[in-house]
Amino acid sequence: MTEPTAYPKPRTCPFSVDPDYARLREERPVEKVPMMGGDHAWLVTRHDLVRQVLGDPRLSSDRRRPGFPQFSANQQSVFRDLPPAMIGMDAPEHTAARRAVLGEFTVRRIEAMRPRIQQIVDECIDGILAGPRPVDLVSTLSLPVPSLVICELLGVPYADHDFFQQRSSRLVHRTTPLEQRISSARELRAYLEELVSAKERDLPDDLLGRQARKQRESGEIDHSALVSSAFLLLVAGHETTANMISLSTLALIENPEQRAEIVADPAKTLPAVEELLRYFSIVEGATSRVAVADVEIGGVLIRAGEGVMALTSAANRDPEAFERPDELDIDRKARHHVAFGFGPHQCLGQNLARMELQIVVDALFRRVPNLRLAVPVEDLPVKSEASVFGLYELPVTW
Ligand code: HEM
Repeated sequence: MTEPTAYPKPRTCPFSVDPDYARLREERPVEKVPMMGGDHAWLVTRHDLVRQVLGDPRLSSDRRRPGFPQFSANQQSVFRDLPPAMIGMDAPEHTAARRAVLGEFTVRRIEAMRPRIQQIVDECIDGILAGPRPVDLVSTLSLPVPSLVICELLGVPYADHDFFQQRSSRLVHRTTPLEQRISSARELRAYLEELVSAKERDLPDDLLGRQARKQRESGEIDHSALVSSAFLLLVAGHETTANMISLSTLALIENPEQRAEIVADPAKTLPAVEELLRYFSIVEGATSRVAVADVEIGGVLIRAGEGVMALTSAANRDPEAFERPDELDIDRKARHHVAFGFGPHQCLGQNLARMELQIVVDALFRRVPNLRLAVPVEDLPVKSEASVFGLYELPVTW
C-alpha cells in the first residue's frame, strides 16, 4: 500500500507544485521520506543541493542497483531484463554511450533541422485551422510535432506513432499496472530490435543508420547498445517535449500580457521558453540516484546504498535561486534552471527541445492570435501520476 504522504506528491494543478516542497526546502532540504514505491529515499529540494547531487559521481544512475528510488511498487522489474540505456549508466560506460551520439545533438546539427521543424509545425497548424472548433491541441499539435521530429531524426516510421506513443505513455505512468508496463517495455524493445537490424543491413542516412555505419567501420558492433539508445531517444524525444508544448500553450493563454510581449518581439521567445521550462519542471523521476559511497549533502550524511531524489520542480522554485519563484515571468533570466537536469546526464536533447518549443510558441500565437481555452482551466485533465507531468487533453478554440 502506498502511504498517503508518499513522494513524489501527485501534481493536481498545472501551475503549482505541492506546498510541502517549499516547507521541506526551507526546513529540511535533505530529508528522508517514504517513496510512492514503498521504500524510503532522501528528497533534496534546494537548488544548489540538487545541482550538487546531480554532479556527484558517487551518486549512481544505475536503476538496477538496490536502493535506487522507486516511484511505483516493483518498478525495477520493468527494466530488469532490458539492457540499460545511457540514462541508467555511470562513467565510464555512460561517457562512451553518450559520446557515441553526442555529435547528432550539437547546436549546429540541431539548427540545420530548423526549416523542417518549422514546416512540420506550420502543417499541424494548417490542419488545426482547417478543422472544426474546439480542437484538442494535444493530439493535433503537442504530440505530432515532437513525434514527427524524433521519427525523422532517428529514422523511425511515423506511421507507427500510435504504437510507440501508447507504449511510452504507459511506461511513464506510475499507475499503469506492472504487467502492462513490463509488456509495453518489451513490445517497444522488440519493435526497435527489428528496426535497428534493418538499419544495420541498409545503413540509411538517419541517426540509427549513421550509428550502425560507425559501429561497422570501427569494428565495435554492439546491436543491443544501439537498440537501447533508440529506445531512450524515442521515448525521451517525444513524451517530454509534447507535455511542454501543451503546458506552455496553456500558460501563455492564461497570461495574455506575456503572450503579447512575445508576439510583439520574437527575440523574447527563447528566454520565455527557458522560463516555461523552469516554471513547469515536468520531469520528476529521472533525476534520482543511489549512493555508491557515503556522501555528505547539505550537512546530511547519505550512506552508501541509500536512494536520493533530486527534485527539480522544487529546486526550480527555490527563492534563493529565482525571485518570486511561483510567478511566471518571461523577462527573468532563468537559464540556470535544472529542468534539463545538471552534470554528466544533463539532457542530451535540450537544444532540440528548445528549438521545437520556440518554433511552436512563435507560430501558434502569431497565426492564431485569439487562441483560448474551450473549457474552464479547472476541468483540464492533468497527468497527476506521471513521472513526466503534462495534460491529457487541451481543448482550445479561437
Ligand atoms: C536526460 C528533461 C527533451 C533525450 C534528461 C534529464 C532531464 C531531461 C531532466 C536528466 C536525467 C538525469 O539526470 O538522469 C527533458 C525535458 C525535455 C527533454 C524537460 C523537453 C522539454 C528531450 C529530447 C530528447 C531527450 C527532445 C531527445 C531527442 C534525453 C537523453 C537523456 C536525457 C538521451 C539522457 C542523457 C544522459 O544520460 O546522459 N532529459 N528532456 N530529451 N534526455 Fe531529455
